[in-house]
Amino acid sequence: ARILLVNGPNLNLLGTREPEIYGSETLADVEALAERTAAGFGLEVRAVQSNHEGALIDAIQAAREDCAGIVINPGAFTHTSIALRDAIAGVELPTVEVHISNVHAREEFRHRSFISGVAAGVIVGCGVQGYEFAVRRLAALIAG
Ligand code: DQA
Repeated sequence: ARILLVNGPNLNLLGTREPEIYGSETLADVEALAERTAAGFGLEVRAVQSNHEGALIDAIQAAREDCAGIVINPGAFTHTSIALRDAIAGVELPTVEVHISNVHAREEFRHRSFISGVAAGVIVGCGVQGYEFAVRRLAALIAG
């Protein structure tokens, strides 16, 4: 089976963007970590990153055809996008939400997530390692 790994806006800048908050690992490192973790469960990864809300929605909708679950870091769309929430609700695939930083220890506007209400689980503030945890959890959900 395959899982979809979605990274939203500005996560292409991982490694150079506010490294004191997000660390020094790059998006390629994150995708490699997810792939390694998934491989341990016999799962493949399709990795998508976009700065565009519609492209993220298209990728989520497409996952309905050939993916068993989703790991998503929606970036700032977490706090703004009902459309992304509806896409996740619509495809009915188990979805684990990840945030590298502890959004609850940051600005008030990062405390609300439109995504969490349709996520099977949420991993927050574990750094890039959160992607590993998210893949592990998703693998367990997929295995049933
Ligand atoms: C983030 C947290 C969001 O508030 C922020 O807009 C991001 C990254 C995280 O991984 O910690 O872009 O999702």
